[in-house]
Amino acid sequence: MKGTILVTGATGNLGSRMVEVAVAKGFRVKAATRHPEKMPAARNVQPVKMDYDDPHTLNTALVGVNRVFLVAPPLDPGAPEKLTPVTDDVKQVTGEDPLTFEYFAQANKAVWK
Ligand SMILES: NC(=O)c1ccc[n+]([C@@H]2O[C@H](COP(=O)([O-])OP(=O)(O)OC[C@H]3O[C@@H](n4cnc5c(N)ncnc54)[C@H](OP(=O)(O)O)[C@@H]3O)[C@@H](O)[C@H]2O)c1
Repeated sequence: MKGTILVTGATGNLGSRMVEVAVAKGFRVKAATRHPEKMPAARNVQPVKMDYDDPHTLNTALVGVNRVFLVAPPLDPGAPEKLTPVTDDVKQVTGEDPLTFEYFAQANKAVWK
């Protein structure tokens, strides 16, 4: 195993694909959703509750994580304000900025090593 990655928005179009890719690349995944009880079981995927509108849920989601793929809440005009403290917390826990869609769009394969 290469480590544990937290993927937010893990039930969505973007996040669910990222979960599949991360598992295929050999990571354990903490799959963040507001409703972890609804997520189907999958090997090396642990559903975890995380809600941008309930910031303390991030603390639990980040336990044991060494990377984070951060998906912004969709259609939310307050997204930048919500993501800034999350980004700060991620950096404090993992020592790195969270990975973002824009980062992957540049196809930087080094991210999976
Ligand atoms: N799809 C694309 O091609 C694409 C391309 C570029 C950028 N984006 C951006 O990427 C983001 C995700 O797009 P998508 O197509 O994957 O959206 P989506 O299919 O609608 O999924 C949205 C995800 O966000 C989660 N979510 C919503 N509100 C949340 C909150 N308050 N706290 C925590 N999680 C929350 C949902 O999780 P639960 O409902 O399970 O909690 C769900 O997993 C959007 O901001 C979109 O603008 C998407």
